[in-house]
Amino acid sequence: MPVSIVVGAQWGDEGKGKIVDVLAQTADVAVRFNGGNNAGHTVINEDGQYALHLISAGIFNHQTICIIERGVVVHPPSLMEEMKLLLNRGISLKGLKISPSAHIVMPWHIAEDQGKESGVAIGTTLRGIGPCYQDKVGRWFAIRIEDMQDKQLFFGILETTYAAKKQELHAKFPDGNIRLPDFETIRTSYLEAREYILPYIANTTSLIRRALAKKKHVLLEGAQGTLLDVDYGSYPYVTSSNTVSMAACLLTGVPFREVRAIIGVAKAYLTRVGGGPFPTEIDGPEQNMLREAGREYGATTGRPRRCGWMDLPLLRYACMVNDLTEIALTKMDILGLLDTIKICNSYKGLNREEGLADLRNLDAKTPEYITTQGWGSLEGCRFRSELPELAQNYIKKIEAYTGVRVHYISIGGKRKEIIAL
Ligand code: IMP
Repeated sequence: MPVSIVVGAQWGDEGKGKIVDVLAQTADVAVRFNGGNNAGHTVINEDGQYALHLISAGIFNHQTICIIERGVVVHPPSLMEEMKLLLNRGISLKGLKISPSAHIVMPWHIAEDQGKESGVAIGTTLRGIGPCYQDKVGRWFAIRIEDMQDKQLFFGILETTYAAKKQELHAKFPDGNIRLPDFETIRTSYLEAREYILPYIANTTSLIRRALAKKKHVLLEGAQGTLLDVDYGSYPYVTSSNTVSMAACLLTGVPFREVRAIIGVAKAYLTRVGGGPFPTEIDGPEQNMLREAGREYGATTGRPRRCGWMDLPLLRYACMVNDLTEIALTKMDILGLLDTIKICNSYKGLNREEGLADLRNLDAKTPEYITTQGWGSLEGCRFRSELPELAQNYIKKIEAYTGVRVHYISIGGKRKEIIAL
């Protein structure tokens, strides 16, 4: 069986949770490969509605092994809460496995994120993600899941790192504009979370290799989206990890040659949370209509998402940097409710043959639009051929521009509301 990679093709919140939930029905192993609890994946299936942050949506298939791999930064108290929530609702965590090499988000990372955002803001989720990745690469104050295994050692690491970080934070933010809990509070909450997490730490690298050797279906699940990638996104308004498909192999140890499908999830319109350029952001009533109809509020922070029109040059860029083999197009039901729909099919002066080579100066781009009409309700459509002609034409435009087949069309929040080719 092949390895499939699922990545966001836009600025995150494309509906990856739903697509992974659907694909995980046939996955033996699902691996989350990047990001932390800055992500929020909403899943609606027979078990109910869930907002997952760290655990793969594959957890709803009780046969699937769900791995949190080394590229993820784990906030143990949040992971514990997520685990409790699932357990309380009868979802088994038998398949959950956590890499010992994953890094831990500490309260000082959150304090630093908050301190920095109170100055020049990127609009982060304030979850400490950037400072944790900084420490991972910086190495001196980093703490990994494996450091939790020995209680006394872990306690010692917490104590020494807390002292050093407290000093560092006071030096960085002399006006006291940070909120670092006292040591005892941190110790209590991290030791409690440790008890929860400990049984799930496993040699995930071997698990993946064994699955590949047995030709099992391995699903690699990204968080955030291509345009938030630290190297390929709209820097500096990006997250601190690599979100693109190439990172999936790097961070899971899966050889490139095993990959059969790279699925980019794209919403039928665009959204973005936080700061940064957004050429097709809507300046008009449709912004609000899309936000309300599509419930476009952050699953992690509750922030209202900025809404805009489909940007084909950006989507083509995402197809290129991820080498997408297929697109999963979501929220076609929501976009179709508008009377008039715009699609950005070029930027002024853009060489359409070449497309975008990178995302520099994105804020200076002037989008050029074509206009179409809304297609109304998609309820009950089971095949692509049953979609209204206007909706079919919209999809064809995307395929023609990007050269990538739209393989899944999501027409509602529920698991069944999807058309697969
Ligand atoms: P950070 O990842 O919290 O540092 O935030 C950096 C940027 O990425 C901000 O613009 C966030 O809003 C954005 N971001 C991070 N995670 C997500 C996500 O899961 N969905 C959408 N945007 C995200």
